[in-house]
Amino acid sequence: MKKALLSKIKNNKASIGIVGMGYVGLPLMLRFSEVGFPVIGIDIDTDKVDRLNRGQSYIEHISGKDIADARVRGFHATSDFSEARDADILIICVPTPLNRYREPDLSFVINTVEALIPHLRPGQLVSLESTTYPGTTEEELKPRIEGRGLQIGKDVFLVFSPEREDPANPDFVTRTIPKVCGGQTPDCLEVGMTLYGQVIDRVVPVSSTQAAEMTKLLENIHRAVNIGLVNEMKIIADRMGIDIHEVIRAAATKPFGFVPYYPGPGLGGHCIPIDPFYLTWKARAYGLHTRFIELAGEVNRGMPEWVVGKIADAVNERGMAIRGSRMLVLGIAYKKNVDDMRESPAVMLMEILRAKGADVAYSDHHVSVFPKMREHRFDLKSLTLTSETLSSFDCVIVATNHDAFDYDLVKAHARLIVDTRGVYLDPAPNVVKA
Ligand SMILES: NC(=O)c1ccc[n+]([C@@H]2O[C@H](COP(=O)([O-])OP(=O)(O)OC[C@H]3O[C@@H](n4cnc5c(N)ncnc54)[C@H](O)[C@@H]3O)[C@@H](O)[C@H]2O)c1
Repeated sequence: MKKALLSKIKNNKASIGIVGMGYVGLPLMLRFSEVGFPVIGIDIDTDKVDRLNRGQSYIEHISGKDIADARVRGFHATSDFSEARDADILIICVPTPLNRYREPDLSFVINTVEALIPHLRPGQLVSLESTTYPGTTEEELKPRIEGRGLQIGKDVFLVFSPEREDPANPDFVTRTIPKVCGGQTPDCLEVGMTLYGQVIDRVVPVSSTQAAEMTKLLENIHRAVNIGLVNEMKIIADRMGIDIHEVIRAAATKPFGFVPYYPGPGLGGHCIPIDPFYLTWKARAYGLHTRFIELAGEVNRGMPEWVVGKIADAVNERGMAIRGSRMLVLGIAYKKNVDDMRESPAVMLMEILRAKGADVAYSDHHVSVFPKMREHRFDLKSLTLTSETLSSFDCVIVATNHDAFDYDLVKAHARLIVDTRGVYLDPAPNVVKA
C-alpha cells in the first residue's frame, strides 16, 4: 500500500483532494496544481464551487488567472464528497472557530471527516491542516477512520501538518514557507513528508501529530502574547506621554534578542485571537491554566474600548461628544493590505462608536461594501477619500493602515485624526495617537 502510494506521489501522479477551498485550501491547491498533480477541491459552499469552476477567485490576493490556469490543468471544485474516493490524498483545511462560550468548535472538522468516511479506501493519505488542540488527530480522526475497518499506518496514512499562511505577504509563497509534519506512525510520517516534499522546499518532521498540533499553537500563542504585551506597553507609554511607536522603532535597532511587535486597536484575523484558546480548553483537562494566554486575551480584547476612550477624550477636548459626531473609520479589514474582515477590531470600534450614538462611516480600498458578517451588520459602502469627504467628518480614525491610503491627504484635511497604528510619526495638532 505504502510503496504504491509513495511511487504515485514521487511521480506527481497522486491525485489530491483538498477539502475546504478557503484562505488555506486555495493557495495549497494552486501549488499542487502548478507542480503537475491532478487536484480537486471539495467545499460545501456551492457559490465558491461555482466561482472556482468558472475560473474565478473570490479572495482579493489570489488571482483569478491562477485559478483559471489551474482549471486548464484539470482542477475542478465540487460539493460531492463521493469524489473523495478518486483522490489518493485528502487534505482537510476547514475552519476551527470558537463557539459562543469561547470553546473549540470542531464541528467543521468532524462534519468533514464524517462526510469523507464512506468514501475512504485503502491506499489514501489523510492530512489535517486546520489549527487545533493537541490530540485532535489521534482522538477525533483516527478512531473514526479505524471505525471504517481501515488500519492507520497500513491501509490509510494519517498526518497533521499545520498551515502557515500570511496572506498578502509578498516575501513568502506557499513553496518557501517551511512546513511541519507529524504522523500517527513512522510510515504515516514518511508518506506525509514525501507528499509535502514534492511542493514545499523544506518539510520539518516532528515525532507525533500532537507535537505538530502544538507547534502551530505555540507559533500563534507567541504572537498573541507578544501583541498583548506591546498593547499593554502602549497604554503605559501613552499615560506617560511617550510614543510607543518611537520606542519600538528604537528597540528594533537592537540586532539580537528583540523582535518588534506592533500595537493596534485590538487583535484580528481568524488565527491569533482564536487559536490560543484551543490550548486553554485542552489544558483544563490536565488541570492546568494557560495564564499568559488568558492575560494576553484580556489585554487584546480590551483595546477597542481603550481606543474609544481616547476618541472620547479627543472629541471632548474639542467641545464635542461621541454622540452625534460624524466618525470615519479608515481600514476595516483586520490587517493591512488584505480584504479579510474576520474578527477585525475595526468592526468592534465601529460597533462601540455606533452604540454610543456616533454616525459611523468607513473607507477601505479592499472592502467596497460592508460584508455580511455573523455578528455585525452595517449597511455601508466604502467612501472615497477626498478633501471634502475628509473635512466633513468630526473625527477620522486610522484603524487599519493599508498602504493604499493617502495619509498626507488625510492629515491635510481631517479635522481630527485618531491614529491607532502609528502611521503619523511627528506630532501634529490634529493627530491623537491611540
Ligand atoms: N487564514 C489563514 O491565514 C490561516 C493560516 C493558518 C492556519 N489557518 C487555519 O486553517 C483552517 C482553515 O482556515 P481558512 O482561513 O482557510 O478558512 P476559510 O473559512 O477561508 O475556508 C474554509 C473553507 O472550508 C469550507 N468548509 C466548511 N465546512 C466544510 C465541510 N464540512 N466540508 C467541506 N468544506 C467545508 C468553507 O466553505 C470554506 O470555504 C483553520 O483551522 C485556520 O485556523 C488559517
